[in-house]
Amino acid sequence: MDSAAAKARRGRFSSVSSMIDEDDISGIENKLKDLGSVKETAEAAKKTVSFIFGVGDRISGLAGVLKIFEANNIEVVHVESRGGRRASAPFEIFVDVDADRSKLPSLVDALKAEVESVMVQEVDKSIDPDQTESGAAISGGGIGGGANDEAVDGGDAFENSGPAGVVDTEIPGKSNPASTKTSAPRQGRMLRRQMTMERLPWFPRRIQDLDKVSRRVIMYGSELDADHPGFKDVEYRKRRMWFADLAYNYRQGEPIPRIEYTAEETRTWAAVYKELSSLYQKHACREFLENLPQLQKFCGYREDNIPQLEDISRYLKDRTGFVLRPVAGYLSARDFLSGLAFRVFHCTQYIRHGADPFYTPEPDCCHEILGHMPLLADPSFAQFSQEIGLASLGASDEEVQKLATCYFFTIEFGLCKQEGEMKVYGAGLLSCVDEFRFVMSGKAEINSFDPRTVSKEECLVTTFQNRYFYTPSFEDAKEKMREFAKTIRRPFDVRYNPYTQSVEVLDSPRRIANVVNELKGDLAIISSALRKMTSGRKILLAVSEPPPRMDDEDGK
Ligand SMILES: [Fe+2]
Repeated sequence: MDSAAAKARRGRFSSVSSMIDEDDISGIENKLKDLGSVKETAEAAKKTVSFIFGVGDRISGLAGVLKIFEANNIEVVHVESRGGRRASAPFEIFVDVDADRSKLPSLVDALKAEVESVMVQEVDKSIDPDQTESGAAISGGGIGGGANDEAVDGGDAFENSGPAGVVDTEIPGKSNPASTKTSAPRQGRMLRRQMTMERLPWFPRRIQDLDKVSRRVIMYGSELDADHPGFKDVEYRKRRMWFADLAYNYRQGEPIPRIEYTAEETRTWAAVYKELSSLYQKHACREFLENLPQLQKFCGYREDNIPQLEDISRYLKDRTGFVLRPVAGYLSARDFLSGLAFRVFHCTQYIRHGADPFYTPEPDCCHEILGHMPLLADPSFAQFSQEIGLASLGASDEEVQKLATCYFFTIEFGLCKQEGEMKVYGAGLLSCVDEFRFVMSGKAEINSFDPRTVSKEECLVTTFQNRYFYTPSFEDAKEKMREFAKTIRRPFDVRYNPYTQSVEVLDSPRRIANVVNELKGDLAIISSALRKMTSGRKILLAVSEPPPRMDDEDGK
């Protein structure tokens, strides 16, 4: 890299650089100690005991049970109810208590006199936490409704373990040969989590779950609206159906099928590519312009060639960990955003109708390949996209809609100021000649971006937007969206585990303790590396420095 390029690259990250000195390293080491105490807290929480019992249709049944806990000086920390699975016990109650094990035998005896049946689960520290994290057991714990109505299979996890209400205890002084050390506690935790998850919209937990998500397209293949440019073109509709079948039959992790585009399709691409290229140099944001040449070099971006999704996907994987997967058409906002949580971008493979190369009422490969890919190759933008996806998982329809609207007016239609000039980073603009020109003509209404107000805007897909939004910088857009994503209400947080390619729901001390352990390892490495680098000196740390490019082997 020459010095001018290096300077430009340093300047790009100036807003996120910081001085690291001895105090900072000590701070990291203190954090490591603090994390140790977090783990201890999590360990202490394992004394919680869970009771599950069925009660009749008398509310007095529950009141009587709670009196028993009170009489035995047992602290109740959590109560939940759900419909029971037996006629004699139409309600099931789940109660968490903090209890001394020695009190449990007499407590169980007292409860048996009051309720239909009782199951007691004491959290067993010897159980491998991974056993309780089984994606297969809990991942389907969604509830139907709207776009998620396929996913109601979480009940199996409980029912397959035995009927509800069975006395299944392992209490000191009470032998119960039928119970096992692994099944009872696991069953109890699964039930509790299942009860929580059943109230939430289903979301994918493993990357393979995206096979289910990707099939839920809103518009499929030849089902074009009457005002679609290809509506009356039988050959185009047949071709669209072929693309749709290809996407429908794709499975996560497979190579993306290569397409032999027709001469007419390539002509359409060429018209779009040529016109947009003339606009990019002047109006596209810096991050876009830095990555486009790389895609031209490594992925076949040329006027006479439509790049293959498989080549782009491999390139992105190497740069930012993002991969593409073909999709037959529009997905719901919830489904599309859920893919981002896994760093998977659902990508159409067909191209718009050739009658009007500068208009498409739906996403097509021109939009995806030219509009989205250059920014997905930017590590910071990729991280930002994944964060939006993670924020959407399990959120209410209303919250997802707000998030999707903000996504629409940033990642699809956003603008930012760079070196005092208005630049475009939204893929919807970067892939639409007419709207791109309109926005840069000075005639469009361009307001400052505030997620709270923008989330109420109407998203238009067949006409220009009523107004567009800009931020003082590209980083500012990301920070504002991150802050907004934090306001999404959910009873838990989630984290993506890149090793297992799964989403972890952080809803228990044990799960959080697992994350803490991983963070401790990373922070210990950072602390050690900083000590070796500084030797008492201050150093400048650019925390967002991207990895070296493929043609930049020594990283300089
Ligand atoms: Fe898009």
